[in-house]
Amino acid sequence: MVSIHYKPPMAEAPGADPIIRIEALDKWFGDFQVLRGIDLSVGSGEKVVICGPSGSGKSTLIRCVCRLERHQRGRIVVDGYELNDETRSLAVVRSEVGMVFQSFNLFPHLSVLENLTLAPMRVRKLAPKEAQDLAMELLVRVRIPEQAHKYPAQLSGGQQQRVAIARALVQDPDLILADEPIASLDPHNTKIVMDALRRINRDFGITVICNLHSLELARSYCGRLIGMAAGRVVFDGTPEQLTELEAQRLYGLDRDARHGAAAGAADSAAEESVLGVPALA
Ligand SMILES: Nc1ncnc2c1ncn2[C@@H]1O[C@H](COP(=O)(O)OP(=O)(O)OP(=O)(O)O)[C@@H](O)[C@H]1O
Ligand SMILES: [Mg+2]
Repeated sequence: MVSIHYKPPMAEAPGADPIIRIEALDKWFGDFQVLRGIDLSVGSGEKVVICGPSGSGKSTLIRCVCRLERHQRGRIVVDGYELNDETRSLAVVRSEVGMVFQSFNLFPHLSVLENLTLAPMRVRKLAPKEAQDLAMELLVRVRIPEQAHKYPAQLSGGQQQRVAIARALVQDPDLILADEPIASLDPHNTKIVMDALRRINRDFGITVICNLHSLELARSYCGRLIGMAAGRVVFDGTPEQLTELEAQRLYGLDRDARHGAAAGAADSAAEESVLGVPALA
Protein backbone atom coordinates (compact mmCIF):
# COMPACT_ATOMS: atom_id res chain seq x y z
CA MET A 1 0.00 0.00 0.00
CA VAL A 2 1.21 3.53 -0.80
CA SER A 3 1.95 5.37 2.42
CA ILE A 4 3.96 8.09 4.07
CA HIS A 5 7.44 7.00 5.03
CA TYR A 6 9.25 7.76 8.25
CA LYS A 7 12.26 9.98 7.54
CA PRO A 8 15.09 9.09 9.87
CA PRO A 9 16.77 12.19 11.25
CA MET A 10 19.95 12.97 9.35
CA ALA A 11 20.91 15.86 11.58
CA GLU A 12 23.08 13.77 13.87
CA ALA A 13 24.84 11.80 11.15
CA PRO A 14 28.43 12.98 10.83
CA GLY A 15 28.85 15.30 7.88
CA ALA A 16 25.12 15.20 7.02
CA ASP A 17 23.77 18.21 5.17
CA PRO A 18 20.96 20.21 6.74
CA ILE A 19 17.63 19.98 4.92
CA ILE A 20 17.67 23.77 4.43
CA ARG A 21 20.77 25.89 4.12
CA ILE A 22 20.36 29.62 3.56
CA GLU A 23 23.44 31.77 3.03
CA ALA A 24 23.63 35.56 2.82
CA LEU A 25 20.09 35.79 1.48
CA ASP A 26 18.91 39.19 0.26
CA LYS A 27 15.57 39.94 -1.32
CA TRP A 28 13.96 43.11 -2.54
CA PHE A 29 10.44 44.06 -3.55
CA GLY A 30 11.27 46.90 -5.94
CA ASP A 31 13.42 49.33 -3.91
CA PHE A 32 12.38 47.83 -0.59
CA GLN A 33 14.81 45.30 0.87
CA VAL A 34 12.60 42.78 2.65
CA LEU A 35 15.25 40.15 3.59
CA ARG A 36 18.70 41.22 4.74
CA GLY A 37 21.69 38.91 4.89
CA ILE A 38 19.88 35.85 6.23
CA ASP A 39 22.06 32.90 7.23
CA LEU A 40 20.16 29.90 8.51
CA SER A 41 20.43 26.12 8.64
CA VAL A 42 17.66 23.73 9.57
CA GLY A 43 18.47 20.09 10.28
CA SER A 44 16.37 17.22 9.04
CA GLY A 45 13.63 16.36 11.55
CA GLU A 46 13.70 19.71 13.37
CA LYS A 47 10.54 21.56 14.44
CA VAL A 48 11.19 25.27 14.14
CA VAL A 49 8.98 28.28 14.72
CA ILE A 50 9.72 31.64 13.09
CA CYS A 51 8.23 34.53 14.99
CA GLY A 52 8.50 38.28 14.89
CA PRO A 53 6.41 41.38 14.35
CA SER A 54 4.12 41.90 11.39
CA GLY A 55 6.08 42.88 8.31
CA SER A 56 9.39 41.46 9.57
CA GLY A 57 9.66 39.13 6.56
CA LYS A 58 8.52 35.75 7.96
CA SER A 59 6.15 34.90 5.09
CA THR A 60 8.59 36.15 2.48
CA LEU A 61 11.33 33.93 3.89
CA ILE A 62 9.08 30.86 3.83
CA ARG A 63 7.86 31.72 0.35
CA CYS A 64 11.46 31.95 -0.87
CA VAL A 65 12.19 28.48 0.56
CA CYS A 66 9.30 26.98 -1.41
CA ARG A 67 10.12 29.12 -4.45
CA LEU A 68 6.85 31.03 -4.46
CA GLU A 69 9.15 34.07 -4.35
CA ARG A 70 12.53 34.50 -6.00
CA HIS A 71 15.51 35.85 -4.12
CA GLN A 72 18.03 38.16 -5.75
CA ARG A 73 21.21 37.43 -3.80
CA GLY A 74 22.61 34.59 -1.70
CA ARG A 75 21.83 30.89 -1.73
CA ILE A 76 18.97 28.64 -0.65
CA VAL A 77 19.72 24.92 -0.71
CA VAL A 78 16.85 22.49 -0.02
CA ASP A 79 17.62 18.80 0.36
CA GLY A 80 20.95 19.36 -1.39
CA TYR A 81 19.51 21.27 -4.36
CA GLU A 82 20.15 24.96 -4.81
CA LEU A 83 17.00 26.90 -5.66
CA ASN A 84 17.44 28.81 -8.89
CA ASP A 85 15.66 29.16 -12.22
CA GLU A 86 16.41 25.63 -13.38
CA THR A 87 13.45 23.29 -13.73
CA ARG A 88 15.15 20.74 -11.48
CA SER A 89 15.00 23.18 -8.60
CA LEU A 90 11.23 23.63 -8.96
CA ALA A 91 10.75 19.88 -9.24
CA VAL A 92 12.65 19.38 -5.97
CA VAL A 93 10.55 21.98 -4.19
CA ARG A 94 7.32 20.47 -5.51
CA SER A 95 8.21 16.96 -4.46
CA GLU A 96 9.97 17.62 -1.15
CA VAL A 97 8.09 20.58 0.32
CA GLY A 98 4.47 20.75 1.48
CA MET A 99 2.89 24.15 2.17
CA VAL A 100 0.14 25.00 4.64
CA PHE A 101 -1.36 28.49 4.43
CA GLN A 102 -3.38 30.65 6.79
CA SER A 103 -6.36 30.59 4.43
CA PHE A 104 -6.38 26.77 3.93
CA ASN A 105 -6.47 27.06 0.08
CA LEU A 106 -8.74 24.05 -0.43
CA PHE A 107 -10.76 23.64 -3.63
CA PRO A 108 -14.32 24.60 -2.56
CA HIS A 109 -16.03 22.57 -5.30
CA LEU A 110 -14.26 19.32 -4.36
CA SER A 111 -15.00 17.07 -1.41
CA VAL A 112 -12.35 16.53 1.25
CA LEU A 113 -11.44 13.19 -0.33
CA GLU A 114 -11.25 14.74 -3.82
CA ASN A 115 -9.05 17.57 -2.50
CA LEU A 116 -6.68 14.94 -1.14
CA THR A 117 -6.63 12.52 -4.07
CA LEU A 118 -6.20 15.06 -6.87
CA ALA A 119 -2.41 15.46 -6.65
CA PRO A 120 -1.60 11.80 -5.88
CA MET A 121 -3.52 10.73 -8.99
CA ARG A 122 -2.18 13.48 -11.26
CA VAL A 123 1.38 13.84 -9.97
CA ARG A 124 2.23 10.54 -8.31
CA LYS A 125 0.06 8.68 -10.87
CA LEU A 126 -1.63 6.57 -8.21
CA ALA A 127 -4.71 4.54 -9.11
CA PRO A 128 -7.93 6.01 -7.61
CA LYS A 129 -8.19 3.24 -5.01
CA GLU A 130 -4.57 3.72 -3.90
CA ALA A 131 -5.02 7.50 -3.71
CA GLN A 132 -8.21 7.08 -1.65
CA ASP A 133 -6.54 4.65 0.75
CA LEU A 134 -3.68 7.09 1.23
CA ALA A 135 -6.09 10.01 1.75
CA MET A 136 -8.08 8.05 4.32
CA GLU A 137 -4.90 7.04 6.15
CA LEU A 138 -3.94 10.71 6.41
CA LEU A 139 -7.43 11.79 7.49
CA VAL A 140 -7.15 9.25 10.31
CA ARG A 141 -3.77 10.77 11.18
CA VAL A 142 -5.30 14.25 11.48
CA ARG A 143 -8.33 12.71 13.22
CA ILE A 144 -11.14 13.63 10.85
CA PRO A 145 -11.81 10.49 8.75
CA GLU A 146 -15.55 11.02 9.21
CA GLN A 147 -15.37 14.29 7.24
CA ALA A 148 -14.08 12.66 4.02
CA HIS A 149 -17.23 13.21 1.97
CA LYS A 150 -18.03 16.76 3.04
CA TYR A 151 -17.11 19.93 1.18
CA PRO A 152 -14.73 22.52 2.72
CA ALA A 153 -17.56 24.99 3.45
CA GLN A 154 -19.22 22.34 5.63
CA LEU A 155 -16.17 22.08 7.91
CA SER A 156 -14.94 24.21 10.80
CA GLY A 157 -11.74 26.23 10.31
CA GLY A 158 -9.76 23.75 12.38
CA GLN A 159 -11.08 20.84 10.33
CA GLN A 160 -10.29 22.64 7.06
CA GLN A 161 -6.74 23.30 8.23
CA ARG A 162 -6.31 19.63 9.12
CA VAL A 163 -7.44 18.73 5.59
CA ALA A 164 -4.83 21.19 4.31
CA ILE A 165 -2.17 19.49 6.45
CA ALA A 166 -3.25 16.08 5.14
CA ARG A 167 -3.06 17.49 1.61
CA ALA A 168 0.48 18.72 2.22
CA LEU A 169 1.35 15.18 3.37
CA VAL A 170 0.01 13.25 0.38
CA GLN A 171 3.17 13.86 -1.60
CA ASP A 172 5.25 12.33 1.23
CA PRO A 173 7.31 15.51 1.70
CA ASP A 174 10.53 15.82 3.70
CA LEU A 175 9.60 19.32 4.80
CA ILE A 176 6.37 21.15 5.71
CA LEU A 177 6.27 24.94 5.68
CA ALA A 178 3.29 26.42 7.50
CA ASP A 179 2.60 30.15 7.23
CA GLU A 180 0.46 31.29 10.19
CA PRO A 181 -1.62 28.09 10.03
CA ILE A 182 -3.71 29.07 13.05
CA ALA A 183 -4.19 32.79 12.36
CA SER A 184 -7.92 32.48 11.72
CA LEU A 185 -8.67 29.84 14.36
CA ASP A 186 -10.06 29.97 17.89
CA PRO A 187 -7.94 28.65 20.80
CA HIS A 188 -9.53 25.18 20.70
CA ASN A 189 -8.81 24.70 16.98
CA THR A 190 -5.40 26.32 17.36
CA LYS A 191 -4.43 23.57 19.77
CA ILE A 192 -5.81 20.82 17.50
CA VAL A 193 -3.91 22.13 14.45
CA MET A 194 -0.64 22.72 16.33
CA ASP A 195 -0.91 19.22 17.83
CA ALA A 196 -1.39 17.79 14.33
CA LEU A 197 1.81 19.54 13.16
CA ARG A 198 3.62 18.26 16.23
CA ARG A 199 2.51 14.68 15.51
CA ILE A 200 3.57 14.67 11.85
CA ASN A 201 7.00 15.88 12.94
CA ARG A 202 7.25 13.20 15.61
CA ASP A 203 5.59 10.30 13.78
CA PHE A 204 7.00 10.80 10.28
CA GLY A 205 10.23 12.64 11.06
CA ILE A 206 9.10 15.42 8.70
CA THR A 207 10.86 18.74 9.28
CA VAL A 208 8.30 21.41 10.20
CA ILE A 209 8.86 25.14 9.92
CA CYS A 210 5.99 27.27 11.11
CA ASN A 211 5.47 31.03 11.15
CA LEU A 212 3.57 32.30 14.16
CA HIS A 213 2.68 35.75 15.47
CA SER A 214 2.17 34.60 19.02
CA LEU A 215 5.36 34.21 21.01
CA GLU A 216 3.53 32.38 23.76
CA LEU A 217 2.33 29.74 21.31
CA ALA A 218 5.72 29.59 19.63
CA ARG A 219 7.39 28.88 22.94
CA SER A 220 5.13 25.96 23.74
CA TYR A 221 5.35 24.24 20.36
CA CYS A 222 8.95 24.24 19.28
CA GLY A 223 12.42 23.32 20.36
CA ARG A 224 13.96 26.07 18.28
CA LEU A 225 12.75 29.60 17.84
CA ILE A 226 13.93 31.95 15.15
CA GLY A 227 13.13 35.61 15.69
CA MET A 228 12.93 38.02 12.77
CA ALA A 229 12.84 41.79 12.84
CA ALA A 230 13.02 44.19 9.89
CA GLY A 231 14.15 41.48 7.46
CA ARG A 232 16.92 40.01 9.63
CA VAL A 233 17.26 36.97 11.85
CA VAL A 234 17.89 38.52 15.27
CA PHE A 235 17.33 35.50 17.50
CA ASP A 236 18.02 31.80 17.05
CA GLY A 237 17.77 29.58 20.10
CA THR A 238 15.56 27.58 22.43
CA PRO A 239 12.38 29.02 23.95
CA GLU A 240 14.20 29.10 27.30
CA GLN A 241 16.92 31.29 25.81
CA LEU A 242 14.35 33.82 24.64
CA THR A 243 14.14 35.81 27.83
CA GLU A 244 11.66 38.62 28.32
CA LEU A 245 14.45 41.05 27.59
CA GLU A 246 15.36 39.29 24.32
CA ALA A 247 11.69 39.29 23.31
CA GLN A 248 11.37 43.01 24.02
CA ARG A 249 14.49 43.58 21.97
CA LEU A 250 13.11 41.52 19.09
CA TYR A 251 9.91 43.50 18.92
CA GLY A 252 11.60 46.79 19.75
CA LEU A 253 14.11 46.32 16.95
CA ASP A 254 11.37 46.10 14.39
CA ARG A 255 9.63 49.17 15.77
CA ASP A 256 12.89 51.10 15.78
CA ALA A 257 13.56 50.17 12.16
CA ARG A 258 10.15 51.40 11.12
CA HIS A 259 9.79 54.53 13.24
CA GLY A 260 13.31 55.50 14.22
CA ALA A 261 15.07 54.60 17.44
CA ALA A 262 13.62 57.42 19.52
CA ALA A 263 10.03 56.52 18.70
CA GLY A 264 10.79 52.86 19.42
CA ALA A 265 12.15 53.63 22.86
CA ALA A 266 9.09 55.72 23.70
CA ASP A 267 6.72 53.01 22.46
CA SER A 268 8.36 50.25 24.41
CA ALA A 269 7.83 51.96 27.76
CA ALA A 270 4.08 52.07 27.19
CA GLU A 271 3.68 48.71 25.53
CA GLU A 272 2.63 45.52 27.32
CA SER A 273 5.06 42.67 27.69
CA VAL A 274 5.21 40.70 24.44
CA LEU A 275 5.34 37.45 26.39
CA GLY A 276 2.16 38.18 28.25
CA VAL A 277 3.96 38.60 31.61
CA PRO A 278 4.96 41.87 33.22
CA ALA A 279 7.93 43.41 31.44
CA LEU A 280 11.22 43.56 33.27
CA ALA A 281 11.95 46.96 34.71
N1 LIG B 1 4.54 41.12 -3.04
C1 LIG B 1 5.00 42.13 -2.32
N2 LIG B 1 5.33 43.31 -2.91
C2 LIG B 1 5.83 44.34 -2.18
N3 LIG B 1 6.05 44.29 -0.85
C3 LIG B 1 5.75 43.15 -0.21
C4 LIG B 1 5.20 42.02 -0.90
N4 LIG B 1 5.01 41.02 0.00
C5 LIG B 1 5.40 41.52 1.19
N5 LIG B 1 5.83 42.77 1.07
C6 LIG B 1 6.37 43.63 2.15
O1 LIG B 1 7.47 42.94 2.72
C7 LIG B 1 7.47 43.09 4.14
C8 LIG B 1 7.49 41.73 4.77
O2 LIG B 1 6.26 41.08 4.49
P1 LIG B 1 5.94 39.64 5.02
O3 LIG B 1 4.58 39.29 4.54
O4 LIG B 1 7.04 38.71 4.68
O5 LIG B 1 5.95 39.88 6.60
P2 LIG B 1 5.46 38.95 7.78
O6 LIG B 1 6.54 38.94 8.80
O7 LIG B 1 5.01 37.63 7.25
O8 LIG B 1 4.21 39.75 8.36
P3 LIG B 1 2.86 39.21 9.03
O9 LIG B 1 3.25 38.77 10.41
O10 LIG B 1 1.97 40.41 9.04
O11 LIG B 1 2.33 38.08 8.20
C9 LIG B 1 6.27 43.95 4.48
O12 LIG B 1 6.70 45.28 4.62
C10 LIG B 1 5.37 43.81 3.26
O13 LIG B 1 4.60 44.95 3.08
MG1 LIG C 1 3.19 36.65 7.18
